[in-house]
Amino acid sequence: LSIRASSYADELVKTAKTVASPGRGILAMDESNATCGKRLASIGLENTEANRQAYRTLLVSAPGLGNYISGAILFEETLYQSTVDGKKIVDVLKEQGIVPGIKVDKGLVPLAGSNDESWCQGLDGLASRSAAYYEQGARFAKWRTVVSIPNGPSALAVKEAAWGLARYAAISQDNGLVPIVEPEILLDGEHGIDRTFEVAQKVWAEVFFYLAENNVMFEGILLKPSMVTPGAECPVRATPQQVAEYTLSLLKRRIPPSVPGIMFLSGGQSEVEATLNLNAMNQAPNPWHVSFSYARALQNTCLKTWGESDEAKEGMFVKGYVY
Ligand code: 13P
Repeated sequence: LSIRASSYADELVKTAKTVASPGRGILAMDESNATCGKRLASIGLENTEANRQAYRTLLVSAPGLGNYISGAILFEETLYQSTVDGKKIVDVLKEQGIVPGIKVDKGLVPLAGSNDESWCQGLDGLASRSAAYYEQGARFAKWRTVVSIPNGPSALAVKEAAWGLARYAAISQDNGLVPIVEPEILLDGEHGIDRTFEVAQKVWAEVFFYLAENNVMFEGILLKPSMVTPGAECPVRATPQQVAEYTLSLLKRRIPPSVPGIMFLSGGQSEVEATLNLNAMNQAPNPWHVSFSYARALQNTCLKTWGESDEAKEGMFVKGYVY
């Protein structure tokens, strides 16, 4: 009987440790073409392949990026994309010690039989897609499903989210990709922080139950949780110390210490809020590496600054990206 669930076991552990390395976190730049279009529209740009390429070139060529970023999550288009100077984006990342990752889920659709909730598609063909992504240089994967507090969450939606994540995680590990397990508990709602804590405990209990049932090796996964905060519309706000206290209690009660890294999503928090909350969680040693996997909380100012640059105003996007 082998304790190794996957022939990639050693490599998975090594990849997970590299991504969870001290002082660094993940740059989530895996916006689908539709979401990227919304970001570009916010600075008055058309959603063309050239503009997406120019923007992504800007992100990966920021000097010193590798000092702070250990992994970058890419959308499929970017895994095969080059910078405006013709270098493969995957190679630009690897040269800086940044592990390339890939979003593998196929997005959210309504969950029949639920309280207007959703489920995440993408298991069909996932094994062959994962093998192709590994060939292309990806070493970790991401699957984002969501749970809504105002809409329940129903027992059905939580079970579906947990089961989907567990199947995806097992398939990823079989194909050499470290799965990032992301059941995003959406910020929307008027509920207080105690209700978020209650729902998060339920969700993570179920996620780990099914991960274990699917023989997922915990040393070779990364988690991407939401921080435990009050709902976005709750009038009673929490300090960073309260968010840290609730979130670390949740993690200690639900996450085994063998998991190498907890990489939080920002979920619509401002850049400052997300940073202060994460900082508060790292004031004392934790059993896991506790860091970030932010999209909006890393990119918002960058996108805005780029949009206001002379190059942007002149429409010189293809050659004229700025740092
Ligand atoms: P935000 O940090 O903008 O929530 O995005 C992170 C992410 O990748 C969501 O899946």
